[in-house]
Amino acid sequence: MEKISLIRYSPEYANPTLTAQLVECYRDVFADGPWHEWLKCSQCQRYWGIKDKYQLAVMKFLHCNVPLVDFWPREQVIRDLYHEITPKASCWLAMKDASVIGFCWGYPITIADLQVKLGISFSRELGRETTELVAYQDEVGVVSAYRGRKVAKTMVAHRLGDFIVQGLSVGIVRTRQNPEPSKTFLWYINKLGYRILAHYPGGDGRVILGRKLDGLRELLAEAPERNYDSNQDILFETEVERVIVP
Ligand SMILES: CC(C)(COP(=O)(O)OP(=O)(O)OC[C@H]1O[C@@H](n2cnc3c(N)ncnc32)[C@H](O)[C@@H]1OP(=O)(O)O)[C@@H](O)C(=O)NCCC(=O)NCCS
Ligand SMILES: [Zn+2]
Repeated sequence: MEKISLIRYSPEYANPTLTAQLVECYRDVFADGPWHEWLKCSQCQRYWGIKDKYQLAVMKFLHCNVPLVDFWPREQVIRDLYHEITPKASCWLAMKDASVIGFCWGYPITIADLQVKLGISFSRELGRETTELVAYQDEVGVVSAYRGRKVAKTMVAHRLGDFIVQGLSVGIVRTRQNPEPSKTFLWYINKLGYRILAHYPGGDGRVILGRKLDGLRELLAEAPERNYDSNQDILFETEVERVIVP
């Protein structure tokens, strides 16, 4: 049985080596399917995933006569970490030995601010005042070698525990329904009882989902019907909090 530790993370208090590892994990997750955000052309904005590396080698990593650039430059990922993982945020990392293999974060935000951030309105469908704080479930990712083994589910359950302690009662997430529903869309809709609150216009394919946090813990604890990508079990351990948020 493999052992994975879950640790809390905050960019302000973390060891820079851990932050650097998280940045690499983030870049690896999105360079892989289904996003394929590895390298892009700064001229025409076309982009490629890690799966295209041989094709790109043939192209000598050039397009529109210029060298390809990172889709997610390290400096931008670091800036985003500081911006999104504020002291009120809940962020968990999954560690295999000293390597970050997964991440999950979210934070409380008023419905009004979240509507501005996401550029779409959903308060009426949700039936709540726009001044109410909700739990925005911002990011979750696991490197492909560890997918299908409940790493995301375990991190999401830890984040939910933090949201409940903070007195939040509704969870909101943005995900993709079309042209292909993302794994998270199927998971949240089919297994976790979220409902669609808003569709982005113009055939964009992204949607806003929400549900009450009450009762979610029980759904996350339910055993899956099958192991998706692997039949190897993982033993999860939660490390004593390393970070004390004032
Ligand atoms: C989405 C992602 C985080 C899931 O991570 P994971 O560790 O493989 O997920 P888990 O094993 O914990 O499974 C969680 C749920 O996802 C669904 N799921 C996972 N793998 C699946 C698969 N291959 N087929 C269908 N459903 C699957 C299941 O509903 C599962 O719940 P269940 O075990 O109760 O049935 C991972 O695939 C990933 O990093 N994808 C790329 C990044 C991304 O798309 N992030 C979300 C948008 S920002
Ligand atoms: Zn180009």
